[in-house]
Amino acid sequence: MKIFLDTADLSEIRRASDAGLIDGVTTNPSLVAKVAEGDVTVMYREICEAVDGPVSLEVVAVDRETMVAEGRKLAAIHENAVVKVPLTEDGLKACRDLGNEGHRVNVTLCFSVSQALLAAKAGATFVSPFIGRIDDISGEGMQLIHQIRQVYDNYGYTTEILAASIRHPMHVVESMLIGADCCTLPPKVLWQLSRHPLTDKGLDAFLSDWNAAGTAI
Ligand code: E4P
Repeated sequence: MKIFLDTADLSEIRRASDAGLIDGVTTNPSLVAKVAEGDVTVMYREICEAVDGPVSLEVVAVDRETMVAEGRKLAAIHENAVVKVPLTEDGLKACRDLGNEGHRVNVTLCFSVSQALLAAKAGATFVSPFIGRIDDISGEGMQLIHQIRQVYDNYGYTTEILAASIRHPMHVVESMLIGADCCTLPPKVLWQLSRHPLTDKGLDAFLSDWNAAGTAI
């Protein structure tokens, strides 16, 4: 499964990318607003250069024509750029238009299997179901990943399932078990994946035994 980092924070992106742990990045307008203001083109280029893989950059228009115009600009920033559009009627049309021009599109804000079907029909490269936000309203976000996997497999759709709105490590584990193609993680969750109390305990014991013996490398 591909791991993407869900942030626009360059230092976090470089930290994960330098460790060779991420396959791409996803951003959204809220994440970008936390770290930037004004023209974000330079920052988007730096993010694209910091990672060897797709970087989702989201349009902010809501009509098809302007979304396509913004999408072309975003795609021109760097070859890693993937245009992100919302799962609305105009977004699906813009997805088809941009796809016809050879651009990769991530259709975001997906909350149902029927929406995911239309994203695939519109030729999306990625569809982003938001697991955490469904859980937040007492739904079962993971069930959506199951359903989309089944529908895409039943009919051979090649759109990649990009599990999004990840809140904790078990979302990642369950996404892997179901067979999501990618998962986008906030930096905190990425590093949580590496931690285990028995690893810390074991390391402490190894080092204390080593030091007690006075050995050296
Ligand atoms: C996906 O691409 C989105 O940026 C993201 O996963 C949204 O997550 P949130 O629900 O934590 O804002």
